[in-house]
Amino acid sequence: MGQAGMFSAGRGGTIHASVADMHIGATIALGRQRLTLADGGAVLPARAQCWLWSCWLDFWREVWRLKRDTGFDLYVELVGDIWEGYHHRSVQVTSLVESDQFKQAYEIVEGLVQMADMTFFVKGTSAHDGQLSWRSEILAEALARVYPGKIARDRGTGQWSFWELEMETQGVILNFQHHGSLGRLPWTVANLAHRTAVEIELKALRQGREPPHLAFRGDRHVYANTGDNHRVQVIHLPCWGVKNEYAQRYFPNHLPDIGGVITLCQGGRYEVIPRRYCPQPAPRWQPE
Ligand SMILES: [Fe+2]
Ligand SMILES: [Fe+2]
Repeated sequence: MGQAGMFSAGRGGTIHASVADMHIGATIALGRQRLTLADGGAVLPARAQCWLWSCWLDFWREVWRLKRDTGFDLYVELVGDIWEGYHHRSVQVTSLVESDQFKQAYEIVEGLVQMADMTFFVKGTSAHDGQLSWRSEILAEALARVYPGKIARDRGTGQWSFWELEMETQGVILNFQHHGSLGRLPWTVANLAHRTAVEIELKALRQGREPPHLAFRGDRHVYANTGDNHRVQVIHLPCWGVKNEYAQRYFPNHLPDIGGVITLCQGGRYEVIPRRYCPQPAPRWQPE
């Protein structure tokens, strides 16, 4: 089974499946195939959303196969901006009714909670997640009531969503935060991730703690990885949306990275497996 073959199945291990920026509720991001609205009407998905949904299923099928083949525990990390919310008077939302977006996000995330041994919620931006990330918080709490023991709680605040999530599984320390910095030019995109790596190392040094092995960040909708250049490896997660109006206007030649990252851990060893999907344009127009 590919990468899983490097680890010993059935001997204890963890699979981390990390995704960020799903923006559920946006017209150009992850969404169910038919959204029933508060007044009984329905919204059908855009072409791009159908494609995103097929990528989403492909990613989680692979995660499920790895779990089945290794017998490892599955931890799912949702690294912020699960919902689109309502911001900057955007017209790219499927519904302005909060409960419509909530139900859609609940349905999609519930499937992951059912599959995982533990699910973690990381707070996103105030634009999408609301002040203090109340959207992630109420979604996590609602799921925690139905699936007790399957949603992790922040031991510092008692909240169901984390500003900064740091955990150790199988001797590997993993750190998760939504916000991070990346360059805007494709050929220098990872430069600021290297800064993040050194900042995390300095912070750990000042606190007298061992720095994490892996630090995951979201928000930028672009995959980047600092590799083994530093003690801390910083990984920027892809997203689950195609370009919105802002990106169409200001970054016409850029492509977002779609997908997630799977990390296998066993006995202090780890392997990072990025899964990226590339948005394809519609077929070229040709005269009939
Ligand atoms: Fe985002
Ligand atoms: Fe974000």
